[in-house]
Amino acid sequence: MSVTVIVGGQWGDEGKGKIVDILSESHRIVVRYQGGANAGHTIQIKDKKYVLHLIPSGILRDDVICVIGNGVVIDPAALLDEIKLLKEHGFSVEGRLFISQNAHLIMPYHKIIDSLNESGKTKIGTTGKGIGPCYIDKYARKGIRIIDLLDPVKLERKIRENLVEKNNLITDFYKSEKLDVEKIVDTYLAFDREIDPYIKDVPSYLNKAIADGTSVLLEGAQGALLDVDHGTYPYVTSSNPTSGGACTGTGIPPTKITEVTAIIKAYTTRVGEGPFPTELLDETGEKLRAKGFEFGATTGRPRRCGWFDAFLVRYSCMINGTTSVALTKMDVLDTFPEIKVCTGYKHHGKLLNNFPVDCDILNESIPVYETVEGWMCDTSKCLSYDDLPQKAKEYISFISEKAGMNVTIVSVGPNREQTFFVN
Ligand code: GDP
Ligand code: IMO
Ligand code: MG
Repeated sequence: MSVTVIVGGQWGDEGKGKIVDILSESHRIVVRYQGGANAGHTIQIKDKKYVLHLIPSGILRDDVICVIGNGVVIDPAALLDEIKLLKEHGFSVEGRLFISQNAHLIMPYHKIIDSLNESGKTKIGTTGKGIGPCYIDKYARKGIRIIDLLDPVKLERKIRENLVEKNNLITDFYKSEKLDVEKIVDTYLAFDREIDPYIKDVPSYLNKAIADGTSVLLEGAQGALLDVDHGTYPYVTSSNPTSGGACTGTGIPPTKITEVTAIIKAYTTRVGEGPFPTELLDETGEKLRAKGFEFGATTGRPRRCGWFDAFLVRYSCMINGTTSVALTKMDVLDTFPEIKVCTGYKHHGKLLNNFPVDCDILNESIPVYETVEGWMCDTSKCLSYDDLPQKAKEYISFISEKAGMNVTIVSVGPNREQTFFVN
């Protein structure tokens, strides 16, 4: 029995969807614990590509139960679209998808306020999915939750109350157009029928399953450096993607977690604004983007690309308590004759001891690089660790040592088969 947290080890898009899909072969339950439809988790099976935003990446295996935890913020329309799409592709959902009654609902005003905020001075480069404004309401104790869908009278009252405040904000502060209260009330009252069958007391269900010896995967979205507490604030998301969020976002206590596996890309990417010390704004960065097909799975935006940052990953492994790492996208480095690895930062000429999350310090930090020789051959057909060229193995050993990580899985392509365990 294992209860394993899967966390993004960098700024998101490390390949969490692919690795969760692989690991869900040996786990009975997969639970998403935070974030919302800002996530885009890709799973490629042969020539078919599936992008999941809210539903856990175990859903493509029909013997796996998928659960959306209380830490997730749910856009009901996005959820129903995703369920519909899965059904159209022949995947069953009924009886194996459950949603926590305590998860908060994304409302139309959250999405509108998200985009209005982004047109202001401090642009974060959000996904526009209403994530930040929804978590604001959660913590302000004004949120509307999945459980509220079960009580139409209460639901309508809450929506009307919230809309008074939101419409004032939208018209008076943002000078934008007032929202249609009746339309929103009708839309959300109608979600009740469709979402009802999935609602569950998730903490009781999961804790009983664990007590019965069931293996559980806890799927994080985003990545450690986007964590609202431990990331590059304010250029972060509004939840806790780090491993601690897996407990608060599901109702599974820390004493039940047995492993924390970080998914880490063999280089670095970031979408949206914010500091990125190893970013490459030249043709090498372009080459990484083209080879790695680095375009957002949710928004289609080009991802910013740069060299592997061992200083950042060391910090990420520390705050996540990472016990093992799945290293993804090794194949993307196949045609680079030289590969740089950042081993530390210099700030005003001095080597920093600890990773600075302060954006001003990060922006002023100069990465210290060590250069390693590339392997210059195709790794995408390697079937085992032993198949990897010697220089690729040396790269993995080198970054593992510098970042203090224990690589147990290597991924050399988007498909299920392009993955192997390190013995
Ligand atoms: P997630 O958000 O962490 O699940 O990652 P995304 O799905 O947003 O982005 C990862 C992208 O890389 C997807 O298009 C995957 O299909 C792809 N991918 C995953 N692992 C590998 C790999 O080892 N090599 C290559 N070339 N692509 C990969
Ligand atoms: P997955 O799970 C990469 C980024 C946005 C923006 C910041 C805040 O696929 O790895 P938000 O909409 O959350 O308020 O945006 O966070 N961001 C992601 N970047 N992968 C993601 O998810 C992301 N989800 C949000 O680009 O910089
Ligand atoms: Mg993604």
